[in-house]
Amino acid sequence: MISKRIQEMVPSVTLAQSEKIAFLKKQGIDVIGFNIGEPDFNTPMNIIKKAEEAYSLGLTKYTPAAGMIDLREEVCRKFKKDYNLDYSVRDVIVSSGAKQSLTNALMAIVDPDDEVIVPTPCWISYIEMIKLTGGKAVLVEMDESNGFDLDVDKIAKHITPKTKAVLINSPNNPTGAVYKKQDVEKLGNLAVKHNFYIISDEIYEKLIYTEEQNCCTASISPEIKEKTITINGVSKSYAMTGWRIGFAVGPTDVIKAMSDYQGHTTTSPNSPAQYASIEALRNSEEFVQEMKKEFDKRRKYIVERLNKMEGIKCYEPKGAFYVMPNIKYFYGRKYKDFIINNPMDMCDYLLEESRIAVVTGAAFLAPHNIRISYSNSMENIKTGMDRMEEALKKLK
Ligand SMILES: Cc1ncc(COP(=O)(O)O)c(C=O)c1O
Repeated sequence: MISKRIQEMVPSVTLAQSEKIAFLKKQGIDVIGFNIGEPDFNTPMNIIKKAEEAYSLGLTKYTPAAGMIDLREEVCRKFKKDYNLDYSVRDVIVSSGAKQSLTNALMAIVDPDDEVIVPTPCWISYIEMIKLTGGKAVLVEMDESNGFDLDVDKIAKHITPKTKAVLINSPNNPTGAVYKKQDVEKLGNLAVKHNFYIISDEIYEKLIYTEEQNCCTASISPEIKEKTITINGVSKSYAMTGWRIGFAVGPTDVIKAMSDYQGHTTTSPNSPAQYASIEALRNSEEFVQEMKKEFDKRRKYIVERLNKMEGIKCYEPKGAFYVMPNIKYFYGRKYKDFIINNPMDMCDYLLEESRIAVVTGAAFLAPHNIRISYSNSMENIKTGMDRMEEALKKLK
C-alpha cells in the first residue's frame, strides 16, 4: 500500500504532456519544444575540464554532508562579491540541485500544520514539497495586469500565527517577473515583525534583461538576512542542470538542520560536480553574458510576435526564459475536433495542429495562460511562432 503522503501528491501535469510529445517524436514528427525548463546551451568547456580533472585526481569520494569546504568558501565569496553579504562556511549548504536545498529548508523549518505562503503563479514543486513536510501551502494569487509583481499587501492579509515562511521566487518561473526591491523589503520587514522566514529562490538571478539588479532578499538589511534562506545553484546560470548542484545560505542553525537532514538522506552531493562548480562560480562571467544576450534577443522577438497574434495578450517578462501569454480570448473557439476551453486544450491543439510543445499555465496555477520557454534556437522560435500564428487563425 502506497503511503498517504505520496497518494496525496498531485502528479505532474507536464509529465502527461511530455509523454504525448515523446510519442510524436518517436513517430518521426518534428515537434518544436517550447516546454523546456533548462538552458539550451552546453556547459562551458572550462567547467567540464575541471570535472575531468576531479576524476583523475581521485576526487570521487564522499564529501562532507554540507558539501566541499572549498566550494562552500566559493559560495561565500560569491555572496560577498555580488551582494556584499558576509557568510561563513557554516552558513552554506551544497545540495544535489536547488531542488534538494529547497526540500531541506522546508524540512528544517516547517512542522505539521505550519503554513507557508506562496505567491502564485508558482513553480508547482513548491506546493508538493510543502505538503510533504505536513505543512500547508497558502496560495496567494498575484495580478497578471502588473506582470505578476509581488503584491505584499495581499500576502500580508494571509499572515497568521501559523505562518512559518513565505516562499518567493525572483526572477520567477513561470512568469518571468523580477520583484522590485521596495516590495521585497516590505515583505522582509513583515518577516522580522511577525517572526517568519523568507525562503528566497534566486536560481534565475543571472537572467535579468532590464537595468534592474536581482534583489537578493538577504542583502536588504541585517535583520532581514537573519530571517532569509537563499536558494541558488549552478543549474540555470551555467547551463548545468544535469550536474545537480544547488546551494543555500542562511542562519547557521537552519543550515545545520538542513545538513543534518541531507546527511541522512543523500550523504553528500556528487563530488566531481562540486569540484566543477567551483570553476563555474569563479570563471564563467563571459559565458553568462553571452547566454543572457542570446536569451534577451529571443525574449524580445517572441513577445513581439505573440502580441501581434490576434487574441494573444503577453506582458514582457524581465527575467528567466519563459513568457506566459493569456489565451482566454480563444475560449469557446473551435477547429476540427478541437474546442478550446482552457490552457490544456490549447496545448493539445498547438501540439497536434502546429507541432509546437508548450506547457499549460494550470500546471503553475496560472489558469488562463500557457508557458512558452524560449530556450530554443532563434530559427526554431521563428518557425514555431509562424506555426502558432497559423493555427490560432484557424480557431473560429
Ligand atoms: C524556480 C525554480 N527553482 C528551483 C529549480 C530547481 O533547480 P535545480 O535543477 O538546481 O534543482 C527550478 C528548476 O526548474 C526552478 O524553476
